[in-house]
Parts: sequence; C-alpha cells; structure tokens
Amino acid sequence: MNPNELSKIIKNRRAVYHKFYTGEKVPHEVIMEMLENANWAPTHRHTEPWRFVVFEGVGLEKLADFQAMRYKETLTKEVSFDETLFEKLKSKPLLCSHVIAIGMRRDPKRSVPEVEELASVACAVQNMWLTASVYGAGCYWSTGGVTYDEGAKAYFRLGEADKLMGFLNIGMPDESNLTGRRRPVEEKVMWVTG
Ligand SMILES: Cc1cc2nc3c(=O)[nH]c(=O)nc-3n(C[C@H](O)[C@H](O)[C@H](O)COP(=O)(O)O)c2cc1C
Repeated sequence: MNPNELSKIIKNRRAVYHKFYTGEKVPHEVIMEMLENANWAPTHRHTEPWRFVVFEGVGLEKLADFQAMRYKETLTKEVSFDETLFEKLKSKPLLCSHVIAIGMRRDPKRSVPEVEELASVACAVQNMWLTASVYGAGCYWSTGGVTYDEGAKAYFRLGEADKLMGFLNIGMPDESNLTGRRRPVEEKVMWVTG
C-alpha cells in the first residue's frame, strides 16, 4: 500500500451527522468488516475490552424507545421536561442505518489501569470509523442520550465496573465533500532532541 493512501484515509474521515443520512442501509458486510477491524485494536495485556451492541431495523426503534423512556424516568425535580429533547431521543436513531453502542468491559483481574481500557476501545472505534469511511458510509460518535446513565448500562450488557462510551451512528450520506479542520499539529507537540 502507498503510505499516502493511509494518510488520505485518516484525513478524509469525517463526523457525518444524522441530517446527512439518506435512509439507505449500509451493507451488512461493511458493518461486519467494521466490527472485525475494531477487534484488531491495540490492547494492553490482551484484555480486549471493546464490547458492541449493534442496533438495526426494529432494533433502532427499541433503542429510541429505551433512551426516551430513560430520559423520562431519570428526570429530577430540578430538571424540567424538555419536549424537544424527548422527541430527538425518540426519533434520531430511526434516521440511521445502524447504531453501535460502544462499551468498555473492565477486565475482572484489573490487569491494566482503566484509562488504558478506555484508550483501547477508542482505538477500536477509530478502526470502525475509518473502515466505514473507505466504504462511503458516514459515522458519528455521540455521547448524548443514556451514555452516562449508570442505570442504562445493563441494557447494553455492561456491568457496574464497565462503561458505556457512547454510540456510533451510521448512515449512507448524501454529502461527500465534508471538510474537516484541525489546528496545526506543531501546537500540540514538543520535541526533545538532546
Ligand atoms: C468521544 C467522542 C464523543 C463525541 N460526542 C459527540 C457528541 O455527543 N455530539 C457531537 O456533536 N459530536 C460528538 N463527537 C464528534 C466530534 O464532535 C467530531 O469528531 C468533531 O465534530 C470533529 O469532526 P471531524 O471528526 O469530522 O473532524 C464526539 C467525538 C468523540 C471522539
């Protein structure tokens, strides 16, 4: 492979939001390849902490209903009901071809610090995201909804020590010229040369 190709793939990956999804389904084989490539993320002590729940078809309705229900259930006296947010939770997953819930399964032996498990899962997500983008599928990692709702974790087969890290929303986009921006890497790097 030409190394320039890899740089292009990395730089062309974009967050593609629901409003760009056409409703067309991302082929099953692409989702499978995304998951397979996720499984090759780096992992300290081979804990392989990434766990995924894939929602498609009627599964998307179930996810939408679940997150809307949890929103209602977890409202406190201090927070008033937001009809717009409720409707978003109930409708947004239905715009996707697939939604993949991103979980971190904590190693029972605690072989490595938690931050390393989270880093490993993030690498797995990047593998999925890059794979989707080379097939022309759009993705977007979201951390809204029930992401930080402790009471929602069991729904995603996660235990107390595990973490839900958000959702990879996936759809075929109608826009292919999405531009990205980053501040220069020089701002974020220090060299030690002697
Ligand atoms: C861990 C994580 C969580 C994110 N959560 C959200 C989110 O909840 N809402 C959102 O609009 N974007 C979210 N994003 C997506 C970023 O906002 C997106 O990557 C950013 O807009 C930059 O776009 P680009 O990746 O196309 O350059 C998240 C990204 C990461 C890595």
